[in-house]
Amino acid sequence: MNLLFIIPFLISGIAADTNHHITTDNTTLWVNAIVGKNGVSTAECWGIQPGFVVSTQPGTVGNQILQLGSLSNGSYTVFPQGPNVDAGLHNAPNPQWVALLSGEGNVNFPQSPATPNLTINAGDLLIAVDTVGTSTIGHRTVWNGGSVVLQMPFGVGFVPDHKTIEGACPKTHH
Ligand SMILES: *[C@@H]1O[C@H](CO)[C@@H](O)[C@H](O)[C@H]1NC(C)=O
Ligand SMILES: *[C@@H]1O[C@H](CO)[C@@H](O)[C@H](O)[C@H]1NC(C)=O
Ligand SMILES: *[C@@H]1O[C@H](CO)[C@@H](O)[C@H](O)[C@H]1NC(C)=O
Repeated sequence: MNLLFIIPFLISGIAADTNHHITTDNTTLWVNAIVGKNGVSTAECWGIQPGFVVSTQPGTVGNQILQLGSLSNGSYTVFPQGPNVDAGLHNAPNPQWVALLSGEGNVNFPQSPATPNLTINAGDLLIAVDTVGTSTIGHRTVWNGGSVVLQMPFGVGFVPDHKTIEGACPKTHH
């Protein structure tokens, strides 16, 4: 019984601490990750490792760059103009990066009522790894009509190293 009252304090303490840490850390790319934990899809905030370095590549020399790691079989999806497209409940088809090039998406976690819907805005990069076997029903995504989505599955067996914060990233950082 007591635990029920203590847990919210513990969680809010962690959130305050990690928010502070996130906002003072400009060497790390923090992205929302849709993960399957104990058979349930939910959100985490991943700080991709290694972080930004100064590029020596032609075209970006001297600027901050971060490696996305091994990628495989990328795809490009255009949802039709018009009403929202409800992609329904699904698992991540592959462990992957997802980039929203235009439009908007809303991700819902029906089995995890404590996890607020994620809003995905144009330009957002996120990770989806709640593949079959990690989550029984997955997540539900509703895309605005006309949204354009880039899916970049990780190479076989690859998952980017990352620091993890429970729950979605604070809004200012993705
Ligand atoms: C990160 O913050 C430090 C200290 O404020 C600053 O010198 C540096 O230029 C920043 N790096 C980037 C990539 O914004
Ligand atoms: C969350 O997503 C569900 C399913 O798409 C939707 O019915 C609900 O209105 C959304 N809630 C918010 C606050 O966006
Ligand atoms: C990409 O496609 C190739 C050829 O079908 C396949 O061998 C490989 O496993 C795929 N990669 C991923 C990450 O699914």
